[in-house]
Amino acid sequence: EHSTYILAIETSCDETAVAIIKDGTEVIANVVASQIKSHQRFGGVVPEVASRHHVEQITYVLEQALTEATMTIEEIDAIAVTEGPGLVGALLVGVSAAKALAFAHQKPLIGVHHIAGHIYANRLQEEFSFPLLALVVSGGHTELILMNEHGSFEVIGETRDDAAGEAYDKVARTMHLPYPGGPEVDRLAHLGQDTLQFPRVWLEEDSLDFSFSGLKSAVINKLHNADQQGLILKKEDIAASFQASVVEVLTEKTYRAANQNRVKQVIVAGGVAANKGLRTALAERFDQTDIQLSIPPFALCTDNAAMIGAAAMVAYQKGNRADWAMNANPGLDL
Ligand code: KG4
Ligand code: ZN
Repeated sequence: EHSTYILAIETSCDETAVAIIKDGTEVIANVVASQIKSHQRFGGVVPEVASRHHVEQITYVLEQALTEATMTIEEIDAIAVTEGPGLVGALLVGVSAAKALAFAHQKPLIGVHHIAGHIYANRLQEEFSFPLLALVVSGGHTELILMNEHGSFEVIGETRDDAAGEAYDKVARTMHLPYPGGPEVDRLAHLGQDTLQFPRVWLEEDSLDFSFSGLKSAVINKLHNADQQGLILKKEDIAASFQASVVEVLTEKTYRAANQNRVKQVIVAGGVAANKGLRTALAERFDQTDIQLSIPPFALCTDNAAMIGAAAMVAYQKGNRADWAMNANPGLDL
């Protein structure tokens, strides 16, 4: 029986990534060229710098993926690429490369939504059980998404202001920690205590939406006031207190949404899924329930192309193909 090999490209933000996925579930090659060092001195991702790096890296990363797989492009069945959302200039590099490859080698072209990719990272570990609830927590997104079948996504909760990862990065910046702040705040949080008891923002009683900008401001104000009064706050305690608030709200709302919708499986996706506090809290909350909790390994939580290849397989099987008019779409809907 013939296997399907998808070559996937992801350039939506600051990682130039190419992967080759077999039958939607098996990683044959997974190359990620990170630009973090180039953005660190600016304290965040600079779109122009990101685009230029993608242009410089993409051909090398493509070649490296094929080498890692010991395959030639002729053996590939389809080319997939992140179409959006993301930084337009960054997305354009991936989309142009994918179109050029598909055109030159006469391969089908598939456009993938970045968040569908984050969700499908979990399918590289285990098969989905529907109905399924995905908690998507990244630098740009915080959403609860209900799936009744492959390729169907219903947003049942979302942030009204900052994304969880964005809040982490902003708090980290105020604490003078290096970019990206999430991993550093996570590390410090485990060395401190929730002594500051920041508010937990639940919104309306039955709301599955989130809001993190008030929490972010509470942390910034606390730091500012302490500074003015000459008080020293332990940075470990600030991190622990901030993380306790974020994790409690994410965990409770996910648990509530999972029960309301009688889902069989809960999956966590996006960069913040790498957070140790969140992983532990969710594991404890769903322990002793008959809902299966799945969190991808650390390397598949942050941006990569393997997840784009996994999501593309569903589109490939449904016969969904992009045409040459496909364009980078920073505001693409799921
Ligand atoms: O999914 P991702 O790689 O890129 C986007 O699509 O946004 O997520 C990046 C975000 C950043 O905000 C980063 O600070 C956060 O994920 N992040 C974490 C951790 N690792 C990455 N946040 C909290 N704890 C972590 N361990
Ligand atoms: Zn992402």
